[in-house]
Amino acid sequence: MRIIAIFSPLGGVGKTTLAVNLAASLSELGKRVLLVDLDAQSSATMALGLATEPGGSLYSALENGTSPRAVIRSTRLPSLFVIRSHIELLEVDMRVTQRDHHQTRLREVIAELRALPDFDCILLDCPSSMGVMTSAAMAAADELLVPLKPGFFMWPLVSCLLAQIQHVIESGGNPGLHMGGFVINRFEGNAAQLSEVARALQATAEPYVSGNVVYLTTIPDSVVLTEAPCSGQTVLEYDPTGVAARAFQDLAQEFLDRGTNKPAVSIEIEK
Ligand SMILES: Nc1ncnc2c1ncn2[C@@H]1O[C@H](COP(=O)(O)OP(=O)(O)O)[C@@H](O)[C@H]1O
Ligand SMILES: [Mg+2]
Repeated sequence: MRIIAIFSPLGGVGKTTLAVNLAASLSELGKRVLLVDLDAQSSATMALGLATEPGGSLYSALENGTSPRAVIRSTRLPSLFVIRSHIELLEVDMRVTQRDHHQTRLREVIAELRALPDFDCILLDCPSSMGVMTSAAMAAADELLVPLKPGFFMWPLVSCLLAQIQHVIESGGNPGLHMGGFVINRFEGNAAQLSEVARALQATAEPYVSGNVVYLTTIPDSVVLTEAPCSGQTVLEYDPTGVAARAFQDLAQEFLDRGTNKPAVSIEIEK
């Protein structure tokens, strides 16, 4: 069982796109996957074609003591399950006074899910903030996957994120956390430019991590990835033979291959 938080404080970089389509691709490969939508915006919930009515969402498990198992919903894919979000979660994410209580409760919920025998992996779709939900996800996850949209603003963010991850590990918040890797999303240049970006990204990451932390598979900029969630479908359903679907299938395979080689991508803490 692997618990993976799809993480970045920047909005619009592709966290939800990655969470939904990686989850679908892993399930297509026969893995039993649970996608937990931690974002009050509920984009992952809607991208899977599910309604966001109150009740029976992650909020119920956090606030009303509903068993996490009772809020797991099936999807059209037989081995893909989801815990839906609802806008009510915003209240949890932002209620500073009860931050510790909510963080503890979310960690308990994730621990209960981890103990279930039903899943091979759990993907956590984090919101674009460093609020309660993201902090608890970082504290509970085994590894982080970070989508990046190449561009000028990416570089300061990369060091910042790695320093943040190192802090979570060093502070005892989650000593077992691994940097699963960066996934380059929406790259529009040619192959030579792509390998230059990947090389520079790896070099930026090296003071913090050992091993190759840049996924070889990249996600192309493709209009079907914008259209698919609007119709409540994963890209595997919406455009099954297109390049974007193929990219996610390759990514899922690379994800599984990397999972067998964890120590190569663990954060090394300099004392
Ligand atoms: N590779 C891509 N090609 C085209 N559109 C994309 C791609 N990745 C993400 N998008 C679109 O960009 C927007 C933001 O992506 P999203 O996954 O919701 O980001 P985040 O969850 O990080 O805020 C969405 O409309 C999504 O459909
Ligand atoms: Mg999102």
